Amino acid sequence: MKVISIANQKGGCGKTTTAINLGASLALKGHRVLIIDLDPQSHASFGLGIKTEQLDRSMYNVLTSVDTKRRRLQDIILNIWDKLHLAPGHILLSTIEQELRSEEDAISTIYRAIDLLTASYDFVIIDCPPSLGFLTFNALRASHLLIVPLQCCSLSLMGVGKLINMVELIQLKLQRAPKVKGLVTMYDKRTKYAKHMIQEINMYFKDNIFDTIIRVNITLREAAAHGLPAIKFDKHSAGAKDYAALSEEIIVDARKLFLDNFYQEAEDFMSEMRNKLKIQKFSFMAPEAGNVYVVGDFNHWKADDCSRLEPQPDGIWEKRMALKPGTYKYKFIVDGEWIHDPRNSKSVPNDFGGVDSLLTI
Ligand SMILES: Nc1ncnc2c1ncn2[C@@H]1O[C@H](COP(=O)(O)OP(=O)(O)O)[C@@H](O)[C@H]1O
Ligand SMILES: [Mg+2]
Repeated sequence: MKVISIANQKGGCGKTTTAINLGASLALKGHRVLIIDLDPQSHASFGLGIKTEQLDRSMYNVLTSVDTKRRRLQDIILNIWDKLHLAPGHILLSTIEQELRSEEDAISTIYRAIDLLTASYDFVIIDCPPSLGFLTFNALRASHLLIVPLQCCSLSLMGVGKLINMVELIQLKLQRAPKVKGLVTMYDKRTKYAKHMIQEINMYFKDNIFDTIIRVNITLREAAAHGLPAIKFDKHSAGAKDYAALSEEIIVDARKLFLDNFYQEAEDFMSEMRNKLKIQKFSFMAPEAGNVYVVGDFNHWKADDCSRLEPQPDGIWEKRMALKPGTYKYKFIVDGEWIHDPRNSKSVPNDFGGVDSLLTI
């Protein structure tokens, strides 16, 4: 049995869509799959046609510390199809954090619950909530593989560092941790920005990213609204095909992804990540400006969509960039005028008789 968590504290990046459609694809290929819905919002359950408010047993009952309410995992599982089963979520999961905070042992509840079902499933897929609390920690602690969906838009790498820190903490506590793999989701090849994001994501994750890219596809949304995986709703849709490709990649790479010694690999990968990209925030006060760019050594001094700052309500323009450690020269371009950073006292003379601001990461 292989346990896969799908996590990223950013909401709306495709976690639930990945859990449902990857699970359905694996099941249709003949694997026995259990999807665990750990999100109080229970979108994975809805996306499989289950209305959780009508249920009297859910993952809440597996995790609760109240004896009278507690159930075994096998007692709450629902059959979606022959090979696809669901451990449904429930709004009460939002209270579990307070209930269990004091119990050191509680961190392994899911691990212990799944362990009893080793013979029953080939894959367990855990859909995590959009936070890095007790539920996500519990899921990661039980997992061999962590898939991090990365929506192809700016800021998608923000916060990933914190998720990696959680994996590291598990490594420290238990001397084992899941292998981490990024998955690009909602890719729209028509936008120049998307291509730039793919480059940035590749730089961050290197080989630890799936070859399969999930394209933007409205069928994925429609299918979920009808309580079905895309492959059952419209098997010819791009969404169905992309998730079938992802399931194939996981099956073909299973040996590599679920190696016995993958914990060591995960550790090497994480220590490498620590020294990788840092998020740098650029900001410029210009309430009257129409556009502001930040250009420098890090982006070949090019003003385009990727270097454009976003206007904030208070007249400040902002842009976050993921940069490798190093020293960079940069400037802002405000309505066509090149200006050094007034908030940064470090600068160096440039070839044009002016100064460039200097940044060391
Ligand atoms: N590849 C995609 N193309 C189009 N819409 C998508 C895609 N993936 C997810 N969506 C939609 O985006 C929204 C957020 O996705 P979801 O999987 O629920 O994210 P999360 O679980 O991370 O919050 C949902 O409405 C979903 O149907
Ligand atoms: Mg979700």
